[in-house]
Amino acid sequence: MFTHYKEIWKQKIADAINALLAENGLPETVAASGVVAEIPPQSDMGDLGFPMFTYAKLLRKAPPQIAQAVREKLASGAGSGAAVTVKGPYVNVFLDRAETARELLKEAALGKNGGLGSPGALKGARIMVEFSSPNTNKPLHLGHLRNDILGESMSRIFAACGAKVRKVCIFNDRGVHICKSMLAYQTYGGGASPESEGVKSDHFVGKWYVRFNQMSKEEPGAEEKAQDMLRKWEAGDEEVTALWEKMNEWAIKGMKETYKRTGVSFDAYYFESKTYVLGKGEIAKGLEKGVFYKADDGAVMIDLSAEGLGEKALLRKDGTSIYITQDIGTAIFRHEDWVFDRLVYVVGSEQQHHFKTLFSILRKLGYEWAKNLCHLSYGMVNLPEGKMKSREGTVVDADDLLDSLKEMALQEIKGKEREEAVGDPDEIAEKVALGALHYYLLQVSAAKDMLFNPKESLSFNGNTGPYLQYMGARISSMSRKATLKDGASARPAARAELLSGDAEWEVVKTLLDYNSAIAAAAEKMDSSLMAAYLYSLSKAFSRFYHDCPILNAENPELASARLALSEAALFVLKDALNLVGIPFLDVM
Ligand code: ARG
Repeated sequence: MFTHYKEIWKQKIADAINALLAENGLPETVAASGVVAEIPPQSDMGDLGFPMFTYAKLLRKAPPQIAQAVREKLASGAGSGAAVTVKGPYVNVFLDRAETARELLKEAALGKNGGLGSPGALKGARIMVEFSSPNTNKPLHLGHLRNDILGESMSRIFAACGAKVRKVCIFNDRGVHICKSMLAYQTYGGGASPESEGVKSDHFVGKWYVRFNQMSKEEPGAEEKAQDMLRKWEAGDEEVTALWEKMNEWAIKGMKETYKRTGVSFDAYYFESKTYVLGKGEIAKGLEKGVFYKADDGAVMIDLSAEGLGEKALLRKDGTSIYITQDIGTAIFRHEDWVFDRLVYVVGSEQQHHFKTLFSILRKLGYEWAKNLCHLSYGMVNLPEGKMKSREGTVVDADDLLDSLKEMALQEIKGKEREEAVGDPDEIAEKVALGALHYYLLQVSAAKDMLFNPKESLSFNGNTGPYLQYMGARISSMSRKATLKDGASARPAARAELLSGDAEWEVVKTLLDYNSAIAAAAEKMDSSLMAAYLYSLSKAFSRFYHDCPILNAENPELASARLALSEAALFVLKDALNLVGIPFLDVM
């Protein structure tokens, strides 16, 4: 793992301060980790700036005086081509551009083997990430697409930092809402199937859920009938079970097709129908331990008012389990199944209270690991036209949205007459659609509600997924051209010292920041930081691309160095796009 120049300089500053402290006979020392490194407001002030205010008290000197003394210390022990200047209370550092560029090319070549793209911040950690987790009564919607890419990208980011990651999904496949689609189908379905209707199987199930809503308005007894069906299901009624199995299979099969399409995958699936019983057992144990109590009506309760969470029922008075019952059982089962250091639940912000309650209960039950449970909560996504509703069947369906994004991308390709150039327009359009969707969804930090604007997401100029894909295609094509011209082996070795212009330098620094960007996204559990990083990379690169001729540079050495820089950018771009679920394209 390489050390970022910022860390190296923080150490140098700490060493200088410590030397000054020792010279003055003062016993204190400072640690490199405590040194503040800033980026000066203007680039002509240096690459790094270190404010000396905090050391005034320790050294009993004014900050500008300390800055001078530190500069002298650094100059005497220098040896590198970096320049150190002082501006008032600041020590400013101009890095040695040639040396830094050389380091960059080395780290880019190492890549995943300890170079760029492999910060070791989470080495050895075992992290389970639960995401998507749909109910099996209707197909995935736009909210799931946000959830899915948050979960998938966080998992990839954790893994990039060296963690062992297990991606899991629970299908909430039991309960009265599932029985509703079953009941409508049983009553009006007449034995139809997704095949007979030519409909994607989860959409077929969803259609019956919508049909139930109509039914419940027209037929007074419908809700009771659904409850009745649930009781039969819990009692193991054969006919109900068979129907449940059939419809669940349809729902799950269809959802898995969507996961495949969006590049989302899981290492394990859990099913509420299996884990809800485990929860019941835990409730009984908790009652014995006195963590829970029985209310007058027979329901099992917990009082969490001391934590501001109020009272919560864990089993109904008739002994049937509640949403949280199964979550208690599932969490314990998962920890036995695959011992984790951390379990992250990617679930909508409307369930914040639920997860606070769940985590608190598991801690009270004495599970040590419960302190490492976290809820990665995210806000609503709507289309600009209107609100996304989940009950009435006016949801923004995930597949439909993907189809229309793809169609829009295809029109764009046709409009530019790029059909032939791109090879398979259909495949490219699909990948552009995914790039547009995922980048747009991840750009906003998870906690915020957002609008998804399909048109904007697909724009080729701006801060979008397709723009980043285009940058990748452009560099790839340049690289191909150069190889065709020279043959890769005939290319002169890149002389990093030629990459010293301002535009090149911005790219060098941005690329070297890649590992810290990944580590920060992992630490803050915020994949929007990766999107922001990609944006800064695209800005730095397009300035370079605009200002500096690459293949047509003044001489072959410069061309080769700039090409090497472009290829380093390509490596980082590809890697980072993967972390946020944007397909890479080498033609577009
Ligand atoms: N299926 C639930 C819903 O649609 C989300 C499940 C979240 N995960 C969990 N372990 N409770 O609201």
